[in-house]
This record gives sequence, structure tokens and C-alpha cells, in this order.
Amino acid sequence: MSKEKFEFDVLVIGSGAAGLTLALKAADKARVAVLSKSKLSDGSTSWAQGGIAAVQHDKDTLESHIEDTMVAGAGLCHRDAVSYIVERGPKAINWLVEQGVEFTRRENNGKGRDTFMEREFHLTQEGGHSHRRILHSADATGKEIQMSLEEQARAHPNITLFENHVAVDLVSDKNPDPSLRKCIGAYILDTDRGLVDVFQAKTTVLATGGASRVYLYTSNPDGSTGDGIALAWRFGCRVANMEFNQFHPTCLYHSEARTFLLTEALRGEGAYLRLSNGERFMPRFDERAELAPRDIVARAIDHEMKRLGEACVYLDITHKDPEFVKGHFPTIYERCLKLGYDMTQQPIPVVPAAHYTCGGVMTDLHGRTDVTNLYAIGEVTHTGLHGANRMASNSLLECVVMANAAAEDILAKIESIDETVAIKPWDESRVTDSDEEVVVSHNWNELRHFMWDYVGIVRTTRRLERAQRRIDMLAAEIREYYSFFRVTPDLLELRNLVTVANLIIRSALQRTESRGLHYTLDYPDPDPDLEGVDTILKPPRRPVLR
Ligand code: FAD
Ligand code: SIN
Repeated sequence: MSKEKFEFDVLVIGSGAAGLTLALKAADKARVAVLSKSKLSDGSTSWAQGGIAAVQHDKDTLESHIEDTMVAGAGLCHRDAVSYIVERGPKAINWLVEQGVEFTRRENNGKGRDTFMEREFHLTQEGGHSHRRILHSADATGKEIQMSLEEQARAHPNITLFENHVAVDLVSDKNPDPSLRKCIGAYILDTDRGLVDVFQAKTTVLATGGASRVYLYTSNPDGSTGDGIALAWRFGCRVANMEFNQFHPTCLYHSEARTFLLTEALRGEGAYLRLSNGERFMPRFDERAELAPRDIVARAIDHEMKRLGEACVYLDITHKDPEFVKGHFPTIYERCLKLGYDMTQQPIPVVPAAHYTCGGVMTDLHGRTDVTNLYAIGEVTHTGLHGANRMASNSLLECVVMANAAAEDILAKIESIDETVAIKPWDESRVTDSDEEVVVSHNWNELRHFMWDYVGIVRTTRRLERAQRRIDMLAAEIREYYSFFRVTPDLLELRNLVTVANLIIRSALQRTESRGLHYTLDYPDPDPDLEGVDTILKPPRRPVLR
């Protein structure tokens, strides 16, 4: 077997809502490759439950969606980004429907719940939203979107799909002036063949999702290891607001299903959070009770669990009509039942878990990064939409809107990009196969444990400094390991996780206040001087490449 070289107009690294949307938008005029680390559907998109937020009926307004997003973002949202994305929400929904996405319609719903709705879709409610504006496909919205987009992409003659392909590093044209350097593709590990191929492309798009696997407990799939953030950082792009890691308040507390989410829409439809003695505690923390923004609910749960020494709290929807519950939340109902819980009859044990990476690669509103011909879209980015705390169901919206924006920008210039520099084949002449894989698995575990313990829902400067010392050691060890041994998917992910953890810790240490998702006991209040101030990290002057 020998290494291959592929050439495309657009190389999309990632096959979730962001990557597939961009591919479909660009493919009418360009040859597009879409890569995914394992199966196309293995990203977070397929796991999304609650839905996608967009203004749909006359009693709701774009201004209200914008204001709710700004409030949840706790003083760090960029109003231009929020307006741009929210205003394009209704059009994004129409496009998804054209691609075959079936959102739950009013007729399918429980008794008499929809009298105030004027459009055909059932709209649910989630924390921070002052109106019902979440379109959903029962409780498996992400799967419906992923499957519909995949079907369209598989049928498109200009799209080539590569499963089991892991991006190792981006490649530049080596222009001696770093400010003029361009991205010309990437080195990609084909995990079936165990070889690193060259993918040369006029434009490259990072659509690699988030980094919540940096934490021990997470709602995310295995691949959420922040690869795109680390790739872009090593390549010379700035990242912003990495300290804002969102913890979803309600993941199932069960040894066999620690990543299974119980959608916020359950609370939107009336579920209560209770302690083991039955007390409903959220009203003590916030007047919006169970529908307060996520940071508040997750922190309240964490507080109560620590105060009482309890392992979990309980989500209770037993007071609702069982048929309504089964009809709206069929996936969750079935899954819980298999694990021994009938949610129509008993409260379900839940705990918070790492869920969403609000910070990421800095982009403008065309998805452009700091490096020419390198774009980033979806959860890997920092566009300014989420600020210090993402509002529920704004993420899928951002994926679709920003993928469209980036595709338009790429198509407008693709013909003028000429490829003059050919990428050299991947050089493995100085590395061998690892003789100590245990280093990777051990360091992976250690990292995720100390990130959970020291850089979690409640932080202190001391804990962060402890984490910083450990990450410095791990980073040195992995750097050495990487330079001696052949790359494997696990090593690549660990290398990226170490980079991302470092960025999170450094950003958290820089923010000397509590704001949104970043809460530290040493600075328990927001600092008015830091309102509107992003934590921007600048990469090393020279891109770090092998
Ligand atoms: P993903 O869908 O995560 O896709 C990432 C892709 O990148 C994958 O194909 C992966 O294989 C690929 N990739 C990564 N690294 C590499 C690499 N090195 N080389 C090659 N390929 C790579 N948001 C909402 O708006 N509404 C919801 O209801 C909602 N519910 C959620 C429920 C759960 C359980 C989770 C985990 C998230 C939820 N979110 C929700 C968040 C939302 O699903 C994600 O933010 C969004 O789907 C991210 O889409 P994406 O396209 O950016 O990335
Ligand atoms: C959920 O369904 O609770 C998740 C929604 C989101 O993360 O946007």
C-alpha cells in the first residue's frame, strides 16, 4: 500500500450539521471532499435532542430571540453575530425542510397544547428563551438533520465522502511572510490503511465540532476532542473564550449510560428538578426556576449535590399525561425504560456533564479564520454568538447559517485561487511504531480526571494552577512521544486534547471574574470592566508542525 494524494476545490474536515451543510451548498459549483474520523454520523449532531431555535410565529420576534441570546451570553455576545445568525434562522429552517428534514408538526402533539401557534410546526421551549421557538423532531432532532443531510450528500456527484479519515495537521504554502501564508490542504490519516495521505485543496474548512471530551463526564460522543481548535492553533489562528465550557444540567446518572442526555425540552414541557427528599429546589436559586439559563441550573445542582453529599438530583415529569410524555420524548422514554426507569411513573436520577465548547477558533461572519483559505464553522468556532453561555438550541442554528455564509464566500473566490505549491508526502522516516501505548491511555485518563476536578463547574485559582502544572508536564511528554512514534488516532486525539486543555486553563486563569459559565470562588462576581472583553489567545509566532 502506498500513500495517496487527493486534490479538491474544498476540503471539509467534519461531517456534522456544519460540514455537510457547507458541502451541499458548495458542491453545485465546486468539487468537495468531506472527512469524518469514523462514521459520517458519529459527531454531536446526531445526538442533538431538543431542537433548533428560530423565530416561527407572529407573537415571537427576531428582536426577542436576539435579546434572549444576549442575556444568556452574560455580556460577551457580539451583537452583530447574534443578529446575523438569528435573522437568518427562518431561512435556515426552510432550507433544512427542503433537504428533507421532518420537524414535528402541530397535529402530532399532545392535547390542546398548541392553540397559540400560527405556523405548522410544533415549537417547544428551553432555558433562556422567552418564547416557544424550538423546532424539533420529537426528541431526536439531530439524528433527523444528520440523516437528511447525509442522504443528500451521498447522492451528490460533486461530493466525495471519506469515513475513517483523521486530520493530522494543516499544510501551508510556506510563504516566508507569516501574514501572507495560505492554507493549501492537510495531512490526513486513513485509519483503515494506517497511512497518512495528502489532501490538497484550494480552501479547507474546519467543521470538527467541540472539545467536551476533555472532561471525564460529558454528554458528547468520543470524537469531541477539540481537533479543529488544536489544528488551527498550531497553524497560527487565534482562539477566543476557551474558558466558557458549558455543562448540561441533566445527563442520566447511570453506570451504563453516563453520556445519555435528558433534553432541556423536558423542563420546557414542565419537568421539575427535585432533591432525593422530593424538594423542588430551583426556585430557591432563580425566579425562572428550571428554565433559568444552563449555567445557573448546572451550578445550582452542583451546589446542592455538594451541600448534601448526594450523587445526583432527580428530574420529575410524572405529573404530566403519560401519553404526552411518550409522544414527545419517545427516544428518552425507551432508553430510560431499558435501564429500569419508567419516567412517566418515577423521577429520573441526573447529574451535570460537559456539553458544549462556547469558545473556539476565531472567525468573522464569513467563517474566515486568521489564515487565508482556511475557514471554520460550527462548534469548533468562536463567532461571537454564544458569549459566556450558549442558549439552548442556538448551536444547530449557528452550524447551518455559518456554513451557508462560508460556502458563499468560498464560491465567490474559488476560481481565483491558483494552486502553485504542491504538498510534499508525509515524512515518516524518523519515527517507529510505539512500544508503549499505555502512555497514551494513561495520559488520556489523567487529563480528563484533573480537568473535571480542577477546571469544572466551580473553579478556584489554586485548582487552575494545579491543572496548569499537570498540563505542562503532559504536554512535554506528548510532544516527545509524538516526535518518536508513528501517529495513531488515539495519539492524535490526545495531542489535541492536551492543547485544548492548555488553552482552557490559560483562558480561565486570565479571566479574573465570574461570568456566565466561568465561575471561580476567588472572583465570585462579574467585573463590569470585563463586560464585552473576550479572552483572546494568540498562537506561537511560528506554527508548530512536524
Ligand atoms: P459535529 O456534529 O460534532 O461533527 C464533527 C465532525 O468532525 C465529525 O464528523 C467528526 O468525525 C469530525 N472530525 C473531528 N475531528 C476530526 C479530525 N481530526 N479529522 C477528521 N474529522 C474530524 N445543539 C442544538 O442546537 N440543539 C440541540 O438540541 C442540541 N442537543 C445536543 C445534545 C447532545 C447530546 C449533544 C452532545 C449536543 C447537543 N447540541 C445541541 C449541540 C450540537 O449538537 C452541536 O454543537 C453541533 O451538532 C455541532 O455540529 P458540528 O457540525 O459543528 O460538529
Ligand atoms: C437539549 O436538548 O437539552 C440540548 C439542547 C442544546 O444543547 O442546545
